[in-house]
Amino acid sequence: MPAPPVIRVCPVTPALRAAVLRLHARPEQDGFVSPPAHTLPDAEQCPGSAPMAILIGDTVIGYYRIERSARSITGRDDDADALGLRSFQLDAAWQGRGLGIRVMDILLADLTQHHPQARRIVLAVNCANAAALALYRCAGFADGGTLYHGGRSGPQHLLWRSLA
Ligand SMILES: CC(C)(COP(=O)(O)OP(=O)(O)OC[C@H]1O[C@@H](n2cnc3c(N)ncnc32)[C@H](O)[C@@H]1OP(=O)(O)O)[C@@H](O)C(=O)NCCC(=O)NCCS
Repeated sequence: MPAPPVIRVCPVTPALRAAVLRLHARPEQDGFVSPPAHTLPDAEQCPGSAPMAILIGDTVIGYYRIERSARSITGRDDDADALGLRSFQLDAAWQGRGLGIRVMDILLADLTQHHPQARRIVLAVNCANAAALALYRCAGFADGGTLYHGGRSGPQHLLWRSLA
């Protein structure tokens, strides 16, 4: 039996860009995450952001961006040493297959390799986003105890994870 296709993450290159722009989560998730068509141009222009593609084999199945400083998420200068994870999403066609946790493992390993100085990472997730909360907790993220109220669809938990 052939080996299952490999999941990998890599920067959004010009060759991958069109496929990334076609990604879309489920309609009911629009309040939780904006599609790359809305956010990729901003990430590409922001010197502190690294837009990343998630691939299975040669197929682009998801997207996220890494912020060099968590300050852009928490607004706190004290968090400048931490990385930030934003816009994490799988295309609707690839959700609900247990891929989320596999992707997260690969994403975290990639961060360890490419950001060896980073000791922690933070993300903001809508309090009503049950699937993402389950995934992040399973991947070792923990609630920092503060709510972020800047989201467009209600309060968000700030979740932290050690990268050490
Ligand atoms: C978050 C996301 C990446 C999860 O990917 P996925 O491959 O569908 O998730 P999985 O199939 O691996 O499931 C992850 C966990 O969520 C649970 N889950 C899935 N859908 C759920 C739902 N609607 N309600 C509650 N839990 C749910 C699964 O049971 C699983 O938990 P378990 O491992 O304890 O069984 C995907 O739902 C997504 O892209 N959502 C839209 C974008 C988004 O909201 N991103 C977060 C921004 S902060």
